Amino acid sequence: MHNIMVLNAKGGCGKTTISTTLACYFAGQGFTTALMDYDPQNSSHHWLQMRKPSQPEIRSIDAARTRTGMTRSWQLHTGVGTEVVVIDTPAGVTGGQLIELFNKADSILIPVMPTIIDLNAVEGFLDELMRFAKHRLHGKRIAMVINRVRFKSEIYEKIESLSNRLGIPLIGSLRDTHNYAVAMESGVGICEMKPEVSSKDREQWQPILKWLHEAIPTKHPSRGKQHHPELQEWKSAAGNVAIS
Ligand SMILES: Nc1ncnc2c1ncn2[C@@H]1O[C@H](COP(=O)(O)OP(=O)(O)OP(=O)(O)O)[C@@H](O)[C@H]1O
Ligand SMILES: [Mg+2]
Repeated sequence: MHNIMVLNAKGGCGKTTISTTLACYFAGQGFTTALMDYDPQNSSHHWLQMRKPSQPEIRSIDAARTRTGMTRSWQLHTGVGTEVVVIDTPAGVTGGQLIELFNKADSILIPVMPTIIDLNAVEGFLDELMRFAKHRLHGKRIAMVINRVRFKSEIYEKIESLSNRLGIPLIGSLRDTHNYAVAMESGVGICEMKPEVSSKDREQWQPILKWLHEAIPTKHPSRGKQHHPELQEWKSAAGNVAIS
């Protein structure tokens, strides 16, 4: 089982958007997939509730609330045979919670928006994360993704410098597009949208997926028990959800 965590203490940088997009992608590729939501806002969970039975199944784990009469480990149990767990995290993660989350992750994706406020915030967050992570990586991988890019600004270059300084690779950038809001409002992912509207976004996800697949071997179609052939190729998939 591989745990992909989408993490940044800064609010509104795209953690839930990236988490739902990834869960949708891996489920569509035939991986038994769970989406674990650590955010009390439960945005990922709400997105999951909008999905239809005809869409690839994504298991839902609410990690934000402690349930009475249930042990914590049982509450976080992802179900038998889960292969990929995408973990959505809340804003403001620091201290003990940051350590707990770090320990749980195999791959950590850090979305950063190209604004000065986000750059300053992520710099402080990454300094804290890397102070703890430095000698505890043990095979864990960390990468940054620039999210909501409108044009290549000076801030973009500053994020590149930060990536070089900390040795955290910058593996992709995602444009600012209404597609993500539509996806969030309708329980779909970019990979389930019609290629006519999402081809640019599918293309932008390629390096991020490639990085993840270095740790999560691609599934052979015949091995995927829930494989949805229409979702196999991001570039050429025929979307099954109409976007007006
Ligand atoms: N690439 C994008 N293009 C356009 N809008 C985007 C993009 N990524 C995210 N958004 C929008 O930005 C808003 C915040 O995104 P999201 O909820 O994913 O952030 P978050 O980091 O999970 O926030 P929080 O810290 O509150 O949990 C949402 O309205 C979402 O639709
Ligand atoms: Mg969120």
